[in-house]
Amino acid sequence: MSFVSRHTAFYLVILAALASLVFTFAFSIWWLAPALVFGALTALGVRDLTQTRHTIRRNYPVIGNLRYLFEFIRPEIRQYFLEEDSAELPFSRSDRSLVYQRAKRTIDKRPFGTQENVYGDGYEWINHSMSPTKPKDSDFRITVGGPACTQPYSLSVFNISAMSFGALSANAVMAMNKGAALGNFAHDTGEGGISRYHEMHGGDLIWNIGSGYFGCRDEKGRFSEELFARRATHPNVKMIEIKLSQGAKPGHGGILPASKVTPEIAEARGIPVWRECDSPSRHGAFDTPIELLEFVQKLRELSGGKPVGFKLCIGHPWEWFAIAKAMLKTGITPDFIVVDGAEGGTGAAPIEFVNHVGTPLREGLRLVHSTLVGIGLREQIKLGASGKIISAFDMARTMALGADWCNSARGFMFAVGCIQAQACHTDKCPTGVTTQDPGRQKGLVVGDKAQRVANYHGNTLKALAELLAAAGVEHPGDLRPHHIVRRISASRVSVLSALFPDLAKGELLEGKYSQTIFRVTWPMAQAESFAPLYSLSAALSGLGGPPHEDSGPTVVPASSPRANASPEAGTNSAAPA
Ligand SMILES: Cc1cc2nc3c(=O)[nH]c(=O)nc-3n(C[C@H](O)[C@H](O)[C@H](O)COP(=O)(O)O)c2cc1C
Ligand code: SF4
Repeated sequence: MSFVSRHTAFYLVILAALASLVFTFAFSIWWLAPALVFGALTALGVRDLTQTRHTIRRNYPVIGNLRYLFEFIRPEIRQYFLEEDSAELPFSRSDRSLVYQRAKRTIDKRPFGTQENVYGDGYEWINHSMSPTKPKDSDFRITVGGPACTQPYSLSVFNISAMSFGALSANAVMAMNKGAALGNFAHDTGEGGISRYHEMHGGDLIWNIGSGYFGCRDEKGRFSEELFARRATHPNVKMIEIKLSQGAKPGHGGILPASKVTPEIAEARGIPVWRECDSPSRHGAFDTPIELLEFVQKLRELSGGKPVGFKLCIGHPWEWFAIAKAMLKTGITPDFIVVDGAEGGTGAAPIEFVNHVGTPLREGLRLVHSTLVGIGLREQIKLGASGKIISAFDMARTMALGADWCNSARGFMFAVGCIQAQACHTDKCPTGVTTQDPGRQKGLVVGDKAQRVANYHGNTLKALAELLAAAGVEHPGDLRPHHIVRRISASRVSVLSALFPDLAKGELLEGKYSQTIFRVTWPMAQAESFAPLYSLSAALSGLGGPPHEDSGPTVVPASSPRANASPEAGTNSAAPA
């Protein structure tokens, strides 16, 4: 019986095929069309029954194929018909609509009132002022370049985050670069090198250099000074960013399969065509924090004095502290640091990495900002931030927490037409954004989408200017954590300055540790190695290692009043004790 019901659809198509065939001969030639359709379905059913790979198709011939069809179109169905406006998958429909509206210059206003639950946990707002300001301009800029930099760069506070040609299609890269040129902001190349598509429209470039040294590697994959200098001195390259890690997959390298190494990708990366290519999980040009900073200095010299910095997602806090100590020890400082949050995007990464590795942006950014304040270097090192920054409010919150500027990757993908179908790794992107298939790329018209990129940038900054005006400040750099308030329970709210308190300028230099994470972890770090001087368990149990010349006081025994390290001290939270 169950056999009959499982095969009902198959029997019905056989019946329909036979009936249409009989009708063709008996009545009219027009019956041939259904006869052919049902004949094809009968053949499909026979194939389903005889194949051995798919159980569903063997058990449910013909009709079982619908499962694959529905699975194929599920993201689109979910997006268009089922998804709630506020469901974050990973970006809500409201977030995406905001980008589309700003990019297309359609109405980005909302009638009738908020759709947010203002009494829900995590709801955030910016406190407004009784005396709003009148911003003259929304083209907010900062100057990046510390004392050792001879070609400082005037950077917009909103820029396109790193995405390689290869992860993005040629048309998407061109649209973004042209948009950056139209809007006078910067376009980060991603670690796949500076492709011909990055250079066609003259947009300012931030050259992102990962462990594969694409575009500046010798035939063995090692960093090449000569090739680097040749590219870095190009006038479009305004800053150089050493990628240490990325929030979506920190500590994970990547392999570009041979089939994806097309002649154009090979040309941009400086690798052989149609040969598998490895991006190691760590850099080969340096091993220790001091060597990292020496590398920064070398790149600055080779580039002719352009701003050089690094991008990272925070992991073990003592590794970041080791870099900070290396700055103090060598006197070499990066011109900028970009903090990427675990919530950041990627072309493709293992699910465990996407979901469970790396510190989220707010905690990571706050830790880096506080450390630089604590060692007295905050003024000369600019801080960028990325991780689901889409709206002007996202920017305001991030800048209140310490960022000097914001980058967005997926925001600009939406601006060039991405619909969040999440098929980026399959080469079947329906909107031509992340595919190398020329047919699919054709739909993405560079001129049209470039204007949208510029519009999204410009309109977001205008919205930011309005927010700042309401808050009573002139420049996003004036925002402080106390400007933003978060609901932490049904009856309690807190300003971010209480959740993420400030460090006093220079306090780490004086060996004062007002926050647990610094008291416990700062002394563990050493400029000479990313490895800690002793383990976190030893630190938490008061059995910290020997004093270190530049490490400040070692952790004091648990019996001391200062050693009130709580279990959460082992986290990356910069929260107070
Ligand atoms: C398709 C894609 C490719 C990316 N490629 C790189 C890369 O080559 N180098 C890098 O440092 N980050 C890369 N990222 C990370 C982004 O630059 C950014 O840090 C992260 O996505 C957070 O920003 P978002 O939340 O605005 O997307 C990539 C992200 C995406 C979505
Ligand atoms: S880039 Fe393409 S495949 Fe990736 S999420 Fe957007 S629309 Fe989908």
